[in-house]
Amino acid sequence: MDLLIKGGTIVTAKTSFQADVAVKDGKIAAIGADLPADGAEVVDATGKLVLPGALDGHTHMYMPFGGTISTDDYYDGTIAAACGGTTTIFNFETQAIGQPMEQLVEEKLETADKQGPVIDYSLHVGVGDVTTKEMLKGMDKVQEMGISSFKVFMVYDFGVDDGQFYSTLTHAAEIGALVGVHAENNDVNKFLVNKYLEEGHVEPWYHYMSKNEAVAGEADVRAINLAKMAGTSLYIVHLDNAQGVKAVADARAEGYPIFAETCPQYLYFTKDVYKDGKPEVGLRPQDFVCSPPMKGQESQDALWNGIRTGVVSTLATDHCPFLKSEKDWGITKKDGTPGNFTTIPNGCAGVENMYPYILSEANKGRITFNKAVEISAYNPAKLFGVDYCKGAIEIGKDADIVVYDPNKDFTIKNAENQHGSIDHTVWEGVELKGYPCAVYSHGNLVFDGKDFVGKKGAGKFVKQNHIHFDTPEF
Ligand code: URP
Ligand code: ZN
Ligand code: ZN
Repeated sequence: MDLLIKGGTIVTAKTSFQADVAVKDGKIAAIGADLPADGAEVVDATGKLVLPGALDGHTHMYMPFGGTISTDDYYDGTIAAACGGTTTIFNFETQAIGQPMEQLVEEKLETADKQGPVIDYSLHVGVGDVTTKEMLKGMDKVQEMGISSFKVFMVYDFGVDDGQFYSTLTHAAEIGALVGVHAENNDVNKFLVNKYLEEGHVEPWYHYMSKNEAVAGEADVRAINLAKMAGTSLYIVHLDNAQGVKAVADARAEGYPIFAETCPQYLYFTKDVYKDGKPEVGLRPQDFVCSPPMKGQESQDALWNGIRTGVVSTLATDHCPFLKSEKDWGITKKDGTPGNFTTIPNGCAGVENMYPYILSEANKGRITFNKAVEISAYNPAKLFGVDYCKGAIEIGKDADIVVYDPNKDFTIKNAENQHGSIDHTVWEGVELKGYPCAVYSHGNLVFDGKDFVGKKGAGKFVKQNHIHFDTPEF
């Protein structure tokens, strides 16, 4: 054996029990009481929890957006992930109009490889152009390369119309793939943006106002209806509103394979951050501008309830960090002319905070640790076709393991204890109960409780199996 984690409490999506975990050649080789050391390095996990590393199903490393590129790339972004107990990311790479999907994937895999990810990664292909049969066939080609998950945007200039969305859904059903959707009503959003700008409202609050609960909820309902029409499964990314939660719950109760992801920012912040920011920790309203924006308390409560009842299947970050100076383009644009809420690059940091945050909420009793593992590791592995190697502490799975100290208090401070490339985090000052004290990727220590100790380039592309769901259960 290479590594023996002794005396901890193993937490799975279903149960918790005390046992040792032995690792050989990067895989979990044995689980049981009093396992022999057999020359392995022994880690004492008495009083600690032993968890599968999280899978963050939604990141935007090195993503071009709003005239810049998100600051974390596949190297520093995965360092941040690893130091927060996330051992696999799924990064979005979006197809340009006219660009064959297979060409996009080839290029992005090469970029990722050059940047040197420190943990394993996979990709979702953002669908930008399926206007011809040939372009649609790109889905088959990238599937042969190991990608079976796609995302359509109902908003943004690079988004698709409902026809392309429907055709993506039907083709996904034919080939065994999962389609994710960023659901917001584009036309109403555009109308509201113009209205507020004409009225002279330029502040970040109007980012929320033009992408409010109804703008998101209507699109959630429509996306679900399109999936029903196409007879396919659907994965709603970054679900943030009560109407959407209800629509997902209803569809699932009717037996449709509809799945939803939410993000820690919608569980912790409300729209109030767009009024004042958090001046006590140096955060301005523009620092919180992401899409979709945070919503009201009613939506936040519905999301927590959705997690408890199984309506929300996964947690992911939508990690897409931009510098403070770029967030200031909402005041003065890059070219020196006056900015407004539409000229702020959309996105916030979060990849290092997801697992510690949800585990801290479990530690405080809001949900069980099993539920935290289910939504952060087990379910994303299943939904994105990598449960053959990820998502659980089980013999034969990759030894992607977090040793978690429930008694370690931790306050997030970007300058002191965060590891990405960004100059601020919306999570600044948030106090957590418990924190990872060791993180392993393939049995190798990548986080020692304080610092990143892994290796550049150690992370590899993980291929996804074909994905097919007939019912909401798996
Ligand atoms: O604000 C965000 N989330 N930016 C990235 C693009 C998206 O919509 O996921
Ligand atoms: Zn999105
Ligand atoms: Zn996103």
